[in-house]
Amino acid sequence: MAKIQAIKAREILDSRGTPTIETTIWSDTGQAAVAAIPSGASTGKFEAVELRDGDPSRFKGMGVIKAVDNVNKIIAPKVVGMDPLYQSKVDKVLIDLDGTDNKSKLGANAILSVSQAVCELGALISGRAIFQYLAEKYALVSLNWSSLPVPIFNLINGGKHGAGNNLDFQEFHIYASSRQSFGESLRMGETVYQTLKESLIKRNAAYSVGDEGGFAPNLYTNTDALELLVEAINLSNFTLGKDIFLGLDTASNSFFKNGKYVVKDKSQPLTTEEMIEFYVQLNKDYNLFALEDGLKEDDFDGWAKLTSEIGANTLIVADDLVVTNKKRLKQAIEKKACNAVLIKPNQIGTISETVDVIKLAKDSKLAVVVSHRSGETNDDFIADFAVGMGANYVKFGAPARGERVIKYNRMGMIESLLKPAQTETSKPDNDRA
Ligand code: PGA
Ligand code: ZN
Repeated sequence: MAKIQAIKAREILDSRGTPTIETTIWSDTGQAAVAAIPSGASTGKFEAVELRDGDPSRFKGMGVIKAVDNVNKIIAPKVVGMDPLYQSKVDKVLIDLDGTDNKSKLGANAILSVSQAVCELGALISGRAIFQYLAEKYALVSLNWSSLPVPIFNLINGGKHGAGNNLDFQEFHIYASSRQSFGESLRMGETVYQTLKESLIKRNAAYSVGDEGGFAPNLYTNTDALELLVEAINLSNFTLGKDIFLGLDTASNSFFKNGKYVVKDKSQPLTTEEMIEFYVQLNKDYNLFALEDGLKEDDFDGWAKLTSEIGANTLIVADDLVVTNKKRLKQAIEKKACNAVLIKPNQIGTISETVDVIKLAKDSKLAVVVSHRSGETNDDFIADFAVGMGANYVKFGAPARGERVIKYNRMGMIESLLKPAQTETSKPDNDRA
């Protein structure tokens, strides 16, 4: 039996230059694992608590010294000596030590940094890559290079990620058809990304990027952003609806004001019913493959209506509605409020609880989308996690910027590890899109 020998957390910076926590755990086998935790900007109000110092004299209050101290002084003495292969036992100690419903005492950032590093260390000690370790441990997937999660590329950023641009919707996505291998999907996504950049340059529009690496132009409407994507797909010689599909994460909480949805595309603020009608129209025009957070985070009934309207052919993805929380997912399932769930480990705070949510989603035939956060680090654990859990999709931002591409490149590495030598790039016919 291996034992955890030492734990040390420290404060590092994320991709926005905001502090976050990184934890290293050593075992008595002489091995060590490091986990760095990401951070959201359009955070759901039901997420577990990310502990920040609130001391305005350091990092404008965004320091994480309290979370670091919680790992080094409170968590470490209880977890040192435990076997890193026993993920759920370690996670139970972390959950009990915190003792709150939303991890507000120790901080979900502090807790997850330990939980994730324990998982990575377990893999190391077992002599397995993390994705293999997880696939064996939880038995949720049979690993195969031709059924890796399909990447969702976020090519245009707006809302809270839009570098101050004027788009209300937060993310404008493209999906390559799941007929393609991961490597081919990445090439296609990157081709459209570069073509979109050329189109923006031709129009004298800004081609600077937002928090997730997608372009952040100022446009007249959100629909214009979809039009730009259609143009870039066509100019790249791909066929919309065959090779490539469109999707949205509107992150609608951020434009819900005084009881109505306020979007540039409409002259008047919209009621829930009217907002649903707008999505029905967008779906007619653009055949949306997925729509995430189309309505606000506590409107289960509105979500159920939206799912009944367009859920037959569109993934209705719950991010802020469910926040990787089993209780909220149960509610969403009972109300038929979505047919897909976004998974972000830091919304709940431990690996074991995240796995439980994925199990429930799979048992209930919901699609699983494993996601990064808008504030990221160069940690690529999430790519292994998605593959090892058998996620249907991964969402790691644009195919650009270091903290995003490290995850896509890790997926490429996993594909090459799983692929038999000299396999063609096109896959057997198991089209999901
Ligand atoms: P966040 O955004 O990481 O800023 O919360 C990502 C998302 O809404 O999916
Ligand atoms: Zn989202």
